[in-house]
Amino acid sequence: MAEVIVVEHEQAAGELVAESIRALIEAKRDAVLGLATGSTPLTVYQALGRSLSARPLDVGMVRGFSLDEYVGLPAGHPESYRAVIDREVVAPLGLTPSNIRVPSNDLAALPAAGTEYEQAIIDAGGVDLQLLGIGRTGHLGFNEPGSSFASLTRVKTLTPQTRADNARFFASPDEVPIHCITQGIGTILRARHLVLLAFGAGKAAALAAAVEGPVTSSQPGSAIQLHPHVTVVVDEAAAGLLANLDYFRYAWANKPAWQGI
Ligand code: PGA
Repeated sequence: MAEVIVVEHEQAAGELVAESIRALIEAKRDAVLGLATGSTPLTVYQALGRSLSARPLDVGMVRGFSLDEYVGLPAGHPESYRAVIDREVVAPLGLTPSNIRVPSNDLAALPAAGTEYEQAIIDAGGVDLQLLGIGRTGHLGFNEPGSSFASLTRVKTLTPQTRADNARFFASPDEVPIHCITQGIGTILRARHLVLLAFGAGKAAALAAAVEGPVTSSQPGSAIQLHPHVTVVVDEAAAGLLANLDYFRYAWANKPAWQGI
């Protein structure tokens, strides 16, 4: 069963996860981070930025692989995930830009882009810690319902629900791309530690299905149940539909001090 930590607010979640990432980098200067975009992980990047300002640490060797990217946006579009990762993660944390990869959405390179991305992750030694949000459809990365648990990085079609959910980042809903390139569920499951964050009541159903529901590709988030090291960090609203909430609180309250997340 995943470890589920219920925190009071997003900032506390960010601080908890940022400290875990910091400890990872302290132990392994060239740690490989799995990066997520969307609103959810921002609190982690901001908390890590504050931590690095208060207590500087050499992060120049840290490597990163983003989960996904839109296909079909003009090059340099500010909402391309390459641009978002550069703006929200690489620049504020002072990471080395060439160490941080995002799947290529270059149309000419697209047929080979998935295979090439998988190889780059393998060549880096695999992802140490993968940050994840969850979509209201239950998606991890952009793996919409029905995505094979064996899937690797490839082009996918976004559901109308996900396009509507992401329309807030664009001038008009029609601007949200229909296609994307995303790490597969199989890719995500290869990471050594999964950290899934969810905030707000809008995520409660998808979160409960991921943590406690049947393991099914109809709920891509439920793939986390196949992974041996998962930490779920949620606020009260996102935790609202968990049947085992009392147990999760009890386990966290009694967690041995020597054990990290
Ligand atoms: P959000 O998206 O963080 O913007 O809610 C999460 C997701 O769709 O995976």
